[in-house]
Amino acid sequence: MKPIRKAVFPVAGLGTRFLPATKAMPKEMLPIVDKPLIQYAVEEAIAAGITDLIFITGRNKRAIEDHFDSVPELEAELEAKNKQEMLEIVRNVLPSNVNCIYTRQPAPLGLGHAVLCAAPIVGNEPFVVLLADDLLDAKKSVTLQLIEAAHEQDGSIIAIQDVDREHTNRYGIISGAPVNEHTTRMSGIIEKPNPADAPTTLGVVGRYVLEPEIFQHLRQTQAGVGGEIQLTDGIASLLKTRSVFGLQYEGVRYDCGSKAGFFRATVELGKKYHGLQAE
Ligand code: G1P
Repeated sequence: MKPIRKAVFPVAGLGTRFLPATKAMPKEMLPIVDKPLIQYAVEEAIAAGITDLIFITGRNKRAIEDHFDSVPELEAELEAKNKQEMLEIVRNVLPSNVNCIYTRQPAPLGLGHAVLCAAPIVGNEPFVVLLADDLLDAKKSVTLQLIEAAHEQDGSIIAIQDVDREHTNRYGIISGAPVNEHTTRMSGIIEKPNPADAPTTLGVVGRYVLEPEIFQHLRQTQAGVGGEIQLTDGIASLLKTRSVFGLQYEGVRYDCGSKAGFFRATVELGKKYHGLQAE
């Protein structure tokens, strides 16, 4: 497998679960303590050696572009006031070797469609997809764990975790046979099955390493669950001709697309990284 340099961040979603906070602000800009969700995902990708960040945006998402841009007047102000620590934080949002590329998803046609919007930018190389809603706290970047496993297995690979059977209708669910302790060779994947229909309880977490062949499959994918073009359905088609694996990664997942998960992340990361306690 070729080296993996490009990461796709689908950020066009409306974030209706967090209204009114997301009425004028992208959900990806909601902060866990002092850092927006999208920055956690970007840092995880950069820690895995990614140099090209491809954001699939939509209307009302300009704050994401501004966040990863420089702010000369703020920097000048912090410099004049000798606030070195803050200046470093503002300047180091991105390392200098990293490029940001923005393209728009013109209509909310689903995650599979959003990923397909990246096809002209990704070209013919493997890439990663990160869903910023899933905040993964790990000693070693989960994206790096996946990339290493993708090279080892020489195929596409998806982050998975065991989920409660009653929650299978929140996830893509995979089936397959174990290759080793953490890795499953996938034989099927289905989007949000009811608990009674779920083939396993191995749920897809929002991190994917995909071979560029996925784009041909996504072009053929019809609308599925929720009337949307699902990435899961594109992967189901891909695995008929290519090897696709699931990896049970090491790390803790916070589902920051839900209020409960967002709250838990705020409390646990606040304690762990900021020494915060409720007063
Ligand atoms: C998406 C995917 C789903 C996956 C989930 C992980 O669903 O469609 O397969 O399990 O992300 O967070 P969403 O949460 O956007 O509904």
